[in-house]
Amino acid sequence: MEVIREAAEMRRIVELARARGKTVGLVPTMGFFHRGHLELMRRAARECDEVVVTLFVNPTQFAPGEDLADYPRDFESDRSRAESAGVSYLFAPGPGEMYPEEFATTVEVEGLSSVMCGKERPGHFKGVATVVAKLFNIVPAQVAYFGQKDAQQLAIIRAMARDLDFGVEIRAVPTQREDDGLAMSSRNIYLEPDEREAATALFRSLAKARGLIESGERNASVIREAIGEVISAEPLVNLEYVSICGNIYLEPLSELSGEVLIALAAHVGKARLIDNMVFEMELEA
Ligand code: PAJ
Repeated sequence: MEVIREAAEMRRIVELARARGKTVGLVPTMGFFHRGHLELMRRAARECDEVVVTLFVNPTQFAPGEDLADYPRDFESDRSRAESAGVSYLFAPGPGEMYPEEFATTVEVEGLSSVMCGKERPGHFKGVATVVAKLFNIVPAQVAYFGQKDAQQLAIIRAMARDLDFGVEIRAVPTQREDDGLAMSSRNIYLEPDEREAATALFRSLAKARGLIESGERNASVIREAIGEVISAEPLVNLEYVSICGNIYLEPLSELSGEVLIALAAHVGKARLIDNMVFEMELEA
C-alpha cells in the first residue's frame, strides 16, 4: 500500500489504473479506523481491482465548538489496518492541500441537508458534500463506498452524485455494531463506562421499533413513542431527534410504507451519537 499526499499525484494514479481497464473503488474516511471502516475497505477490495481510501479530518464539516481539535487520530495504526484490509492507496492530504487560502467554492444539497442532523449542525452537510465532491474529482473511481450508519450523509451523497453527474456508483455498506448493538463510531471513545452502557439505548430503541413493525405496526407516532420510552429510561442519554421518513428523500411519514428510515441522534456525555435502521414495507395487496 502506498501513502499519497498530493491530489494531482493521486488523480494521475487513478486515471492510469482506469486507462489500464481497472475498476477503482473509493472509501472516504476521517480515520481512526474501526470495524465499520474496515468493512467498507474489505468490501471494496472484493469488488474492485484497486482500492483508494482517503483519510482527511475535514475541518469544514465541523462547526466552531464541535470536536475538530479533539477528533481521534492514529495515523500509524490506520496505515497498517488499511494495508491489511487490502487497500492499494491511502490518500492522506494535509489541510493546505485540500483547502488552499484562496478556496471559495462549496456544494450544498438543498432540502436533504437541513432536516434531521442538519438542524442541530447547520453547515455540516455543506462541508461533507464539498469535500466528497473534491474527493470524487481527485479519485475518479467507478464505485464509492459509504456506511449505512450515516444514513442522511448517504442520501445526500447519492443526490449530489446524481445531480452533478459524477458518474460514480454509490454502494452502501450495512452498519457494523459492537456485540451489544452499539453502532461502531470513532466518537464512542468519548464515552465514560457508565455512558457506554447507557448508549446501547439507541440500538435497543431501534430494536423495539423493529419488533413493533414486525408485528404489523405502521403508525409512526406509536413507533416514535416506543423509541422515546426506551431512550427516556436512560437518564444519561439525551434524545435530539427521532425521524421516521422515506429513505431516499427523507420526507417525514405518518404511516409507514415503501422504504422507511428510522433514524435518531442523542447526546451521551460529550459524544453526539447517531443510529438508524431501514425497513422495506411489503406492498399492501
Ligand atoms: P467517517 O466518520 O470516518 O466515516 C467514514 C465512512 O465509514 C462513512 O461512509 C461512514 O458511514 C462509515 N462508517 C462509520 N461507522 C460505520 C459503521 N459502524 N458501520 C458501517 N459504516 C460505518 O463519514 C465520514 O467519515 C465523513 O463525513 C466523510 C464522508 C469521510 C467526509 O469527510
